[in-house]
Amino acid sequence: MIDLKDVVYCRLGTADLEEAESFAVGILGLEVSERRKDAIHFKSDIRDHTLCYFEGDPEDQVTAFEVGSAADLQAAANTLDTLSMDVEQGSAAECEARHVRDFIRFKDPTGNRIELVVRPTQSSRRYHGTRDAGITGFSHVGLCTTDPARDEEFWTTVCNARVSDRIGDAPLMRLGAIHHTIALFPFHKPGIQHINHQVETADDIQRSWNFLKERQVNITFGPGRHPTSSAKFLYFSGPNGLTFEYSSGVREIHDEPGWHNRQFPFEPTGFCQWGSRPNIAAFKD
Ligand SMILES: [Fe+2]
Repeated sequence: MIDLKDVVYCRLGTADLEEAESFAVGILGLEVSERRKDAIHFKSDIRDHTLCYFEGDPEDQVTAFEVGSAADLQAAANTLDTLSMDVEQGSAAECEARHVRDFIRFKDPTGNRIELVVRPTQSSRRYHGTRDAGITGFSHVGLCTTDPARDEEFWTTVCNARVSDRIGDAPLMRLGAIHHTIALFPFHKPGIQHINHQVETADDIQRSWNFLKERQVNITFGPGRHPTSSAKFLYFSGPNGLTFEYSSGVREIHDEPGWHNRQFPFEPTGFCQWGSRPNIAAFKD
């Protein structure tokens, strides 16, 4: 079994790095940690970086997870190979660009680009955004799935994810105590469905709602509260239409053997207990 420790970063292609930086710093509230010729890295917590925008195709979206050791990485490559999934070793230059010791890349059964990394660099400097969004860190990703049951099986049997709850057939899956680190949402093609940053309090959610509205940012869902994770949330659009989320107060599951996943309806009440309505039709486009 591939033992994923945590999600570590997302890498997003963009045709307009300047626009991406302007959004990431001025709207989302991240901090530039490094500028390269064709990429910018952003910090959201103690890690070296948790987001990278690079010059490239906006459809090129990568999510990375940490595994425990070089031996675990090799074992993961062997496991994927056994399943006839194509695995590529990251080059030395690619490792250097990602600030990781080593990594492999593959695609999940839907075709989402995934990297497994070992020894991602921690920063000696805490995150300090110029916009006070209240961010405490990068926390989870939503990935698109063309077959939720098939992909749930991949993430929970080939990898170590556990289903905390389901909304319809969409599983919210944990790697550690946090209610979910990976969520799968039905869609007709691969891609990142949303990127979540935790913020300190519900006040930060409310403040950001006003901040984003004043700047004509497209708010897609919320403010609201998830009945699954109990988190208060706000979803909005970033460059190339990608959805970002702030949330606060996510449930933690410490009674691992005692938790039994729950079923919620794939309708507005399954996503929000305050009455905010997601665009359910968008999941089916
Ligand atoms: Fe989320």
